[in-house]
Amino acid sequence: MSLTEEIKKRRTFAIIAHPDAGKTTLTEKLLLFGGAIQTAGAVKSNKIDTATKSDWMEIEKQRGISVATSVMGFEYKDIKINLLDTPGHQDFAEDTYRTLTAVDSVIMVIDCVKGVEIQTEKLMEVCRMRNTPVICFINKLDREGRDPYDLLDEVEEKLNIKVRPLSWPIGMGKGFKGVYNLYEKKLNLFTPSQRKLSDDRQVFENLDDPELDSLIGPNNANQLREDVDLIEGVYPEFDVNDYLEGKIAPVFFGSAVNNFGVNEMLDTFIKIAPGPKSRETDLREVKPEEKKFSGFVFKIHANMDPNHRNRIAFLRICSGTFERNKPYNHVRGPKPLRFSNVTQFMAQDKEIIDEAFPGDIVGLYDTGNLKIGDTLTEGENMVFTGIPSFSPEIFREVINKDAMKTKQLEKGLKQLMEEGVAQLFTFEMGQRKVVGTVGQLQFEVIQFRLKNEYNATVEFHPMNLYKACWISSADKKQLDEFVRSKNRYIARDKDDKLVFMAESKSWLQMVQDNYPEIEFHFTSEF
Ligand code: G4P
Repeated sequence: MSLTEEIKKRRTFAIIAHPDAGKTTLTEKLLLFGGAIQTAGAVKSNKIDTATKSDWMEIEKQRGISVATSVMGFEYKDIKINLLDTPGHQDFAEDTYRTLTAVDSVIMVIDCVKGVEIQTEKLMEVCRMRNTPVICFINKLDREGRDPYDLLDEVEEKLNIKVRPLSWPIGMGKGFKGVYNLYEKKLNLFTPSQRKLSDDRQVFENLDDPELDSLIGPNNANQLREDVDLIEGVYPEFDVNDYLEGKIAPVFFGSAVNNFGVNEMLDTFIKIAPGPKSRETDLREVKPEEKKFSGFVFKIHANMDPNHRNRIAFLRICSGTFERNKPYNHVRGPKPLRFSNVTQFMAQDKEIIDEAFPGDIVGLYDTGNLKIGDTLTEGENMVFTGIPSFSPEIFREVINKDAMKTKQLEKGLKQLMEEGVAQLFTFEMGQRKVVGTVGQLQFEVIQFRLKNEYNATVEFHPMNLYKACWISSADKKQLDEFVRSKNRYIARDKDDKLVFMAESKSWLQMVQDNYPEIEFHFTSEF
């Protein structure tokens, strides 16, 4: 198969959801359709249950398990689908943000009872930054949920994206009869079943057909006629380009656990979802069809076993053909790298592969050369952009409790940061080191791993900080002046970039007002 054909075949996406909305269930159903698994219950939830919520060892173990399910590849109707898993626990949200840099589109699951929840809002912000196309799946229609019009309004309002329903529910909860596919003009009747492997859709070009009344009852039929009239009147016709540009999110209704509406969405997904897209580098845009290989690392998973300090780096292929054992330019590093152990994740198995194509994700065994955001190329010295760090939310100062082990501590911190466990900021004054995270759990993870893997002992002291803002200015003199006058609050990130450590929202606002020449950024790329 030619490179162009390989590219055309691929769809790389992630499912995002607030915990409990049904991401794991939907993933499982998609894998069933793809023939990647045979039985329900085969997909391990990467959700941390309440009993183990504070037990991070357990969480790390589960994260270990989830390496296998980090990328799930399967074929469906001749399309190679790469589904990237995102961590269920919100303390690992940063992992999810980065995973979203490696996909071409997302499916967002919303619980029809709970509506749009906070984690979904945050994830959607990241999608919006990249104009990632989003398909919305409103789940659990077998439960008494909220009014579908309200739900759509809420999605538009809270997620700040226009929606266009492509299916419409007939009843809900006990009275749920099915959905009408507005795109294909087909009726899909609901029968609760977890095993069903295809939706049996009936074509209804004309909703006035009296057969509709006998199928779903006259009340439901009339309601549906009214609803469809209203929707077609209110919403503009679905334009696939608006979806591809991230301006409009098509919406499907269904019930993942009953395998209802999933097949329908998947069929539309393979028709409309984008294949591998062009990507920006600091030099130019890279097209997937380019002959020469290029890709970037978006995730690193470390081995918890201190005797095997190898890690798996996840590489998204952006252009050309990636080949095993071929030396590639490691743009940040001192020497070319070649990989003999390259895995791809098909179904739930890992397999060693010889080549991979744009859109694919491969796992590279690495002994410490790679870090998140690294670019590999077939020669060119360019770096993929759009893989930023986001300002953390919790900050703690690192206190070294064993001065004899300072070297080990430095090394350990450096490596853990390269894996993206957390972010390290070093204050200009006194070289105090501050770790920033999005969740409490990471501090326990870091403390344990520093001890266990690097023999370094640390404590974390709380710090009263609100945000880390990367700063820049067109006027270098003003920037120097700002750094001098605010020197107590100036730190450097892992790439030596200048960061302003703001203590509170109001104070940050005041400083921003007082220094209009200085730009404050909440992500490391600007
Ligand atoms: P998550 O990965 O997004 O966190 O959610 P997950 O799929 O684990 O689903 C959360 C709960 O919601 C599960 O129930 C799951 O069975 C249920 N669920 C998923 N889809 C539907 C649906 O369409 N209708 C209904 N009624 N429930 C649904 P649980 O009790 O937590 O687990 P389980 O014992 O059922 O596995």
